[in-house]
Amino acid sequence: MAPPPINPCRCIRQLCLFLPLLLSGTGTFATTNSNSYTSHCPSPAPAPDRHTDVGDDVELLKPFQLPNGFFWGSGAESLFSPDTGGIFGRYSSFLPRGVSRTADPTLLHLTATLTLFGSRIEKNTTYWSNYDVAISFHLDGYYSTTTSELCMVGSGTEASNGHGPVLTKLVEHYADVAVHLRVPSHPSLADPFVTGRLVATDFETIFLATFAVGDTYEYSGRASCLPMPAAAMPASRRALESQHGNFSCAALREQLMFKYRLKYGKSSSLPQLHEPRMIVNQVSCAANGAVRLYAVLSNNRNMAGPWPGMDRFLVENQAVVADGFWEPDTSRLCLHACRVVRSASDNLEVRECGIGMSFWFPAVWTVLDRSVAAGLLWNASQMGSGDGRVISDAITVSSFQKFIVNNLSDVKYVYNQTLLETAKRHCLKARSSNNDKNIEATFPGNYTYRDFEFMFSTNSGGRGGGAYPVSIGSAMVRGDELAAEYSFSRHAAAEMKQSRLVNVSYGILYQIVPTEWPEGIYDSSQDPVPFEHGKITAEGVYDTRTGFLSMVGCRELNGSTDCQVLITVQFTSLENPHGLGYGTGRISSLRDSTDDLYFETRNITLLGTSGQQASQSIRRMDLERMITLASSTLSCAFTVLQILHTKRNRDVAPATSITMLVVLALGYAIPLLVDINALVLDVLFVAKWFVQLCRDGGLLNLDLFVLKVPMLIAFVMLLRVVQLVWASRQCSDDHRWWGAEQRMLRVCLPLYLIGAAVTVAVVHFGRELGTLREALASYAGLVTDGFLLPQVLQNAISGSGVKAISPWFYVGGTVIRVAPHVYDVVRAHRYVPSVRLSSYIYASPRDGLFGSVPWDVLVSCLAVSLALLLFLQQRLGGDFFLRRKSRSGGY
Ligand SMILES: *[C@@H]1O[C@H](CO)[C@@H](O)[C@H](O)[C@H]1NC(C)=O
Ligand SMILES: *[C@@H]1O[C@H](CO)[C@@H](O)[C@H](O)[C@H]1NC(C)=O
Ligand SMILES: *[C@@H]1O[C@H](CO)[C@@H](O)[C@H](O)[C@H]1NC(C)=O
Ligand SMILES: *[C@@H]1O[C@H](CO)[C@@H](O)[C@H](O)[C@H]1NC(C)=O
Ligand SMILES: *[C@@H]1O[C@H](CO)[C@@H](O)[C@H](O)[C@H]1NC(C)=O
Repeated sequence: MAPPPINPCRCIRQLCLFLPLLLSGTGTFATTNSNSYTSHCPSPAPAPDRHTDVGDDVELLKPFQLPNGFFWGSGAESLFSPDTGGIFGRYSSFLPRGVSRTADPTLLHLTATLTLFGSRIEKNTTYWSNYDVAISFHLDGYYSTTTSELCMVGSGTEASNGHGPVLTKLVEHYADVAVHLRVPSHPSLADPFVTGRLVATDFETIFLATFAVGDTYEYSGRASCLPMPAAAMPASRRALESQHGNFSCAALREQLMFKYRLKYGKSSSLPQLHEPRMIVNQVSCAANGAVRLYAVLSNNRNMAGPWPGMDRFLVENQAVVADGFWEPDTSRLCLHACRVVRSASDNLEVRECGIGMSFWFPAVWTVLDRSVAAGLLWNASQMGSGDGRVISDAITVSSFQKFIVNNLSDVKYVYNQTLLETAKRHCLKARSSNNDKNIEATFPGNYTYRDFEFMFSTNSGGRGGGAYPVSIGSAMVRGDELAAEYSFSRHAAAEMKQSRLVNVSYGILYQIVPTEWPEGIYDSSQDPVPFEHGKITAEGVYDTRTGFLSMVGCRELNGSTDCQVLITVQFTSLENPHGLGYGTGRISSLRDSTDDLYFETRNITLLGTSGQQASQSIRRMDLERMITLASSTLSCAFTVLQILHTKRNRDVAPATSITMLVVLALGYAIPLLVDINALVLDVLFVAKWFVQLCRDGGLLNLDLFVLKVPMLIAFVMLLRVVQLVWASRQCSDDHRWWGAEQRMLRVCLPLYLIGAAVTVAVVHFGRELGTLREALASYAGLVTDGFLLPQVLQNAISGSGVKAISPWFYVGGTVIRVAPHVYDVVRAHRYVPSVRLSSYIYASPRDGLFGSVPWDVLVSCLAVSLALLLFLQQRLGGDFFLRRKSRSGGY
């Protein structure tokens, strides 16, 4: 089984939604309103509880543990937004809370909670928001084992996280609801589902369905496999045994719950089945090897929506249910299946049976067949009347999926001699033309198989893809990472030392647009992933000395394959500063240019391994955290030095520009305010750690806040400097400082205002800077970068040359302001740009107009010039340049 990448935050969020519901529910349940029950539930008739000491509650409750149901109907449409079919689409969970036997031995008294999970999309004042909704119904009722009928009444509470990011709100209340379920006491192939409906006064009927559970399933005993040797079945199959050599249900589920591609014979013997895709959605088995399953058929070729492995019960227009057994001698699963349709009366109906179904797990992979699981569907009622025809008309199924986490170490990759020869020829050709000039360098392959993964873009712009190794030498490196790593280090590493050329096989997925790529190379029906992808399966040789990869591959066409595709890649050496997974390559056709299947050569550029990019990004963020902490601590230190300087030189203190201090203080305060806003919200609501866990990126915010504590201290200290200067001016009889400050403001204030106005105008008309808020934040950054401007102007106006400002303060302050600009330029050259702006901790575009090199250079130069001017002013007098100018003008 391949569980998709689950967003843990999302899961926790759902848990957060669910918990208050559970808590609120515990208090309300003990009260059975018998009037309400009889008005909603004509049957089963209630009976008084009878307490026994048997203690078999757990056994009794088993059939009612239904955590992964599906619901639909007009009521569902009114309560939730349309199901987008995503992983986190709608689902229902029915969990019993208590059970009691009654005076009637065939009647059980049950309490349970039914929760409907879904989402709602709502437009608030400015934007659309999508939030999770959970509605929990606390129910009480009776179950009759003779009629399999369960009827319960109760009321519901709705929780949603739509009102602010943090707060889970219990808002709506739904009184007076009834749930009617059919829970088969002995489920079977003809009766495999729990189905029912939820009826309420506040919304229309909601239909519910899920796969019946429990140990009481009655197997049909009608399953049989095709006689061996069966067509389409590889000779060598994986045994799928547990460590003790027994049948392992867990292993079977893991290898079986996939998406499958269905291939139909020319004339299908199963005319009712015609969808191109199948998902094995539910599998349960007994210890003796008895197996039953439920699989949905879908015409959604991409099947972007439902992922298997989530255990969520899926409902499509067509499905099959099957039961049978695992045959250990032949390592295959033999099943008898029936067709299931969603009827007009919104029920799941089991229709024709007599469908033979078999699954096995190929132990050998080749360039054309790399499925974890494969199988066959045939018309079993035609067996005997010429088996050959039955098989030729059968439906073959094979699993496909990009994300595989199965342990495939018992699968052997068998290379195709012809493809290898061709690839080798091209490798040697490239080697001779290269004259082995790279021979001294080292290339990927020494440490981990993941070095062989790479992402690439094509020369025609942003489109590209990714390539992952399937086998290296004799090591299978697909599937479970640990098993792959073990296999690589055990086999491939040694083989690569022994021989210069090593056999490799790859899977390559690329994003394409039909007009860009030659016709036929793109066929969405072959899509393994929900994007516009093409797929090439390739094998060839890798030259460990030159880092040259040469492969011949098969691209999947509409129902056929073209195995004349040459892929060559030259990896950059590890000495290259870029690191792993970089290089260049090309994808070309080996066909004649007049051939229908010929396509133009594509040059590709390797973009590094995805894992490497992530770790690079993490290293960068760590570095930025450290720089941020260092720089804000230094700001603190410099401000302390200024305080000491001011205290020591009380006579010159009044010459300090208060405007400068205020500008600087604002420069510290604004980023703090932006973050405090987020943090205070979190702290105010509920238990802080809990909320932090529930919010995406919440922990990061806290982290950032800690980083900014020194800045808060610096801010407070600046206020102290302001106070000292203010006090010294009050004490001083000399009023010229106030005057100078006023005259300076007459110049500065209009300058700042014009700057702000220009920023607003640019945002308004240009719309390239993003929102107004961001633009103003950037502008504030610029003003802070020029924090010395008021001081320099004031000095010039007053002509004062006193050393009011500590060199530590103005030089250090300037360095702190200039450093992020320098870093930004370096980062632009060193790192791949991040998609997420929030990953920029230091020199974030939010803190200033970072991101454009000329701008960074200009701002840095201006800031340094101001510091230099101040330095000269404190040596030569505040108006030294004006004086010199007038002198030179005098000559
Ligand atoms: C199997 O074949 C028989 C006879 O051709 C046909 O009547 C029946 O519908 C088929 N079964 C299914 C499930 O399609
Ligand atoms: C993978 O399976 C093999 C046996 O097939 C076993 O020896 C190995 O330990 C497994 N590896 C992992 C990582 O589970
Ligand atoms: C590559 O595979 C071929 C075919 O299986 C085999 O003959 C050859 O020895 C292998 N080469 C290496 C270097 O393992
Ligand atoms: C693929 O083939 C089917 C029938 O063989 C045809 O209907 C369909 O249009 C083809 N698709 C493409 C993209 O050529
Ligand atoms: C691809 O790269 C080769 C050199 O490696 C160059 O000669 C050729 O023009 C490039 N093709 C395109 C379409 O850029």
